Amino acid sequence: MSEVADAPEIEVELKFITPADPLFAQVEKLRWDVLIEPFDLTGEVTWDDDDPHSSHLVAVAGDRVVGYARLIEQGDVAQIRHVAVLPEEQRAGLGTVLMAALVAEARRRELAHVWLNSRMPAVRFYERLGFERVGETFYTPVVHLEHVRMELALQ
Ligand SMILES: CC(C)(COP(=O)(O)OP(=O)(O)OC[C@H]1O[C@@H](n2cnc3c(N)ncnc32)[C@H](O)[C@@H]1OP(=O)(O)O)[C@@H](O)C(=O)NCCC(=O)NCCS
Repeated sequence: MSEVADAPEIEVELKFITPADPLFAQVEKLRWDVLIEPFDLTGEVTWDDDDPHSSHLVAVAGDRVVGYARLIEQGDVAQIRHVAVLPEEQRAGLGTVLMAALVAEARRRELAHVWLNSRMPAVRFYERLGFERVGETFYTPVVHLEHVRMELALQ
């Protein structure tokens, strides 16, 4: 599926879904369980204004959503948000294939670059995919965790 990813160690199907898909309930639970609840991010929500027009990518094993990431197109660039893999499936290559698929989709749309706000423990993960840090670290207004903007040029 991409030039940057090896095959993950578990068999998954990658597909884009809409919020109307029955699998989306698992997406909201995954976002909550992996990205919000462990960090006590009480101000964070599982649904935001970008969700209706985001491209929601899921990694599905059987009927289980084991990984998720979304692409939010913004003019000639796109933001990637909510990259999450179930704890028991982490470090098996799933995050890498999810990211590679979103980058491939952004390339297909001929976007100039993709960007994201990385939590500090994930910076190395994104660097391995070619993303570069841009600017100083910061704390987002809602999610009180240190982040840094990272970008991957596509053109
Ligand atoms: C970050 C995340 C999406 C990566 O997905 P993954 O499937 O575990 O990643 P992959 O197996 O494809 O890649 C693993 C590589 O990424 C890096 N990496 C992944 N998770 C890491 C972590 N928690 N700490 C440090 N490095 C990490 C490592 O370099 C690792 O390679 P290694 O195992 O050979 O050392 C996943 O760990 C996750 O959901 N973490 C919790 C939520 C989160 O922080 N999301 C990112 C928000 S910006």
